[in-house]
Amino acid sequence: MAEETYSPATTEWYYPPDEVVENAHVPDYEAVYKEAMQDIEGFWAKRAETLDWYEKWDQVLDRSQAPFYKWFVGGKTNITLNALDRHVQTWRKNKLALIWEGEPGDKKTFSYWRLWQETNKFANVLRGMGVKKGDRVTIYMGRVPELVIAMLACAKIGAIHSVVYGGFSEQALADRIEDAQSRVLVTCDGAWLRGDIVRLKDTVDEAVRRSPVVETVIVVKRTGHEVNMEHGRDYWYHDLMSLPIATPVCETQVMNAEDPLFILYTSGTTGKPKGVLHTHGGYQVYTATTLQWVFDIKDEDRWWCAADPGWITGHSYIVYAPLILGATGFMYEGAPTYPYPNRWWKMIEEYGITILYTAPTAIRGLMRFGDAWPNRHDLSSLRLLGSVGEPINPEAWRWYYKVIGKERCPIMDTWWQTETGGFMITPLPSVPLKPGSATRPFPGIEVDVVDEEGNSCGPNEDGKLVIKQPWPSMLRTVYGDPDRYVSQYWSEYKKQGWYLAGDSARKDEDGYIWVIGRIDDVLKVSGYRLGTAEVESGLVSHPKVAEAAVIGVPDELKGNIIYAYCILAAGLEGSDALVDELKNHVRHEVGPIAVPARIEFVDKLPKTRSGKIMRRVLKARALGQPEGDLSTLES
Ligand code: WT7
Repeated sequence: MAEETYSPATTEWYYPPDEVVENAHVPDYEAVYKEAMQDIEGFWAKRAETLDWYEKWDQVLDRSQAPFYKWFVGGKTNITLNALDRHVQTWRKNKLALIWEGEPGDKKTFSYWRLWQETNKFANVLRGMGVKKGDRVTIYMGRVPELVIAMLACAKIGAIHSVVYGGFSEQALADRIEDAQSRVLVTCDGAWLRGDIVRLKDTVDEAVRRSPVVETVIVVKRTGHEVNMEHGRDYWYHDLMSLPIATPVCETQVMNAEDPLFILYTSGTTGKPKGVLHTHGGYQVYTATTLQWVFDIKDEDRWWCAADPGWITGHSYIVYAPLILGATGFMYEGAPTYPYPNRWWKMIEEYGITILYTAPTAIRGLMRFGDAWPNRHDLSSLRLLGSVGEPINPEAWRWYYKVIGKERCPIMDTWWQTETGGFMITPLPSVPLKPGSATRPFPGIEVDVVDEEGNSCGPNEDGKLVIKQPWPSMLRTVYGDPDRYVSQYWSEYKKQGWYLAGDSARKDEDGYIWVIGRIDDVLKVSGYRLGTAEVESGLVSHPKVAEAAVIGVPDELKGNIIYAYCILAAGLEGSDALVDELKNHVRHEVGPIAVPARIEFVDKLPKTRSGKIMRRVLKARALGQPEGDLSTLES
C-alpha cells in the first residue's frame, strides 16, 4: 500500500486551535526558524544556557575536523546533573518523574527524589563492581523502571550504556556485546508480553556463551520464573541493591561535553549493525529543546511516549529529555491489546495522559479493532498527539486525529533517526498540518531534497534527503569504526559537506517535506529498523541454507513485511516444514521482528555481474511489476 498513498498532491490542511497556538512555548514557528538560521551557533548556545553545566564551554561548534564535529567544546557537564541532580534541589523533588504500569496490572511511581536515590544506589553498585568512566555496559531488559535506572546509573558514573532491544535474540545480542566489549550486562529474568513470559535470561546465557567477554550479569527479578544463575557471574539486582555499598548518595562524574553517553546499534546498508555514538553535552541540549517545543511539555502534563526505551525514541524521549525538563512521564510494559484492545485507551483515561506519542504501525493495529474500543473511554485529557518511525498513511492519520484526538489535538509527525538523536523534521503545535507530511525542519536545522549532483529538486520531485548543517545531537561516530561513519553518512555529498539521511523525499510547493522511504537496504517493519543483511545472515546461519536474499514488501498493517528467497544446500528440497524451521531459526537468532512473512525456495538469485544481489528485481517480481533495466544482470 504505502508508497501510492503518500501524496504531496493533498490540499487537505489542518489548522491548530487558537488556544493551542497561544499557549505554546513557541507560538510562531516562522519567526523562530528565521531567527535561528541567522546565527545557528548563537541559537544553540542560548538553548544550552537553559541547562546546568559544571563549567561553561569555550566554543559552541568546532568544525575543524569535519565531519567529526564537536559541540560545546570545553564545557563540563553530565546529563544526569540536568535529568536528576538539579531537580532534587527544588520543589520538583516531590514531583512524579515516572508512572509505570506492568502488563499484569501492577503499578509503580517514582518521584524525582526516589528516582535519583535508586539511580545513585545502582550507580554505587556498578562502581563497586569496578565499572569506570568510559566502560561499556550492555542492558538487555523488558520495559521496566529498572531499565531507566540502569541507563541513568551508567550515565551518572560516566559509563557508556548500550541498550539492546529486548525483542532481539541470541546472535543479535552476542554481536552487540562483542562489538561494545561489555564486561557487565544488566538484564531481567523475563518480560511480560501478551500474558506470556519472554525468557530474556535464557537468551542472555546463550549470547554470553557466544561472546564470553561478559564477566558479570546483573538480573532484575520481574517474572519470577526459575532461571539459571551462574555462580560467580550472575547476581540478583535486589541482592546487590541491599548491600552496604548501595548507598543512596553517589557523586556524579564530571564529563566533558563530548564524552560518550551511549552507543545504540542500528541497521545499516551492509554487514553488522552500526554502533551509533552519542555524547553528553549536545545531546542533552537538543533532546530537551525539541521535546519542549514540539510537544510543548509543561509541568502539569502527563507525557506518554509509547516506544521502547531500547530504541532511540525511548532513549531521547522516555528517559533523557522528559527528565531534563522535569516532566512526568508514563511507561507501560506490555502489548497494546492485552488483555483487550482498549488497554491503551483505558490507561489514558485512568492516568489522565495529556500527550501520546506513538508509531503509525501501532495506530493502524488499534484502528483495526474499530472505534468502539476508544469510544468507551474518556480521552478528553489529551491535548497533543505524535507519530514516529515511518511515514503515516493519511487514513491512519485521520483516524488518530478524529477518533483519538476528537479533532482537538494536532498531530506532531516527527521525522528523525537513531543517528540524529532528536526530531529533525517536525511540526511545532503552531504549524498547520497536512496528513502524511512531517512538515518543516526544526529551528536550527537545514534540510533539503536534492538530486545526484546536489541540486535542489523542484517542487514534488523525488530526491535524496540531506541535512546541510551540523546539529548538537548528531551522532559523533560509528563506535570503533570512524571510516564507516565517514563513508556511510558524509561521502555521497562530500564536496558540499552534507549529511546523507538514507531516505528519499519530496518537498511540495509550500516547503513541506514528504518522506517516502529508505533508499538503501534498510527495511522498516512495524517501524522497526532492520538491515536486509541481518535477516539474510540469520537465514544463512542455518545449515540447510546456502544463500538468501530478502526484500521488504508493502503491507497494510506493518508498513512492510519481509519476503525471503533461499537457495538450499546441494541436494536438499524445500518443504512447508522447512519453511517453519527457518522461520523459527530466524526468530531465535535475530528476533521475532526479523521473521520473514514468506520464504520461497529458488535455484538462483538475480545478481549483478559483480555478484551483488539485485533486490530491486526480486521486489518487482514479488509485486508483479516490470523488472526494469536488467543490463547489469549476470546471465
Ligand atoms: C528511519 C530512521 C527516530 C525514531 C524511530 C526511527 C524512518 C522515522 C519517520 C517519519 C517518515 C520516518 C525514516 C528514517 N522514519 N520517522 N515521521 N516519517 N519516515 O529511528 O530506527 O533510526 O529509523 O525511520 O526512514 O530514516 P530509526
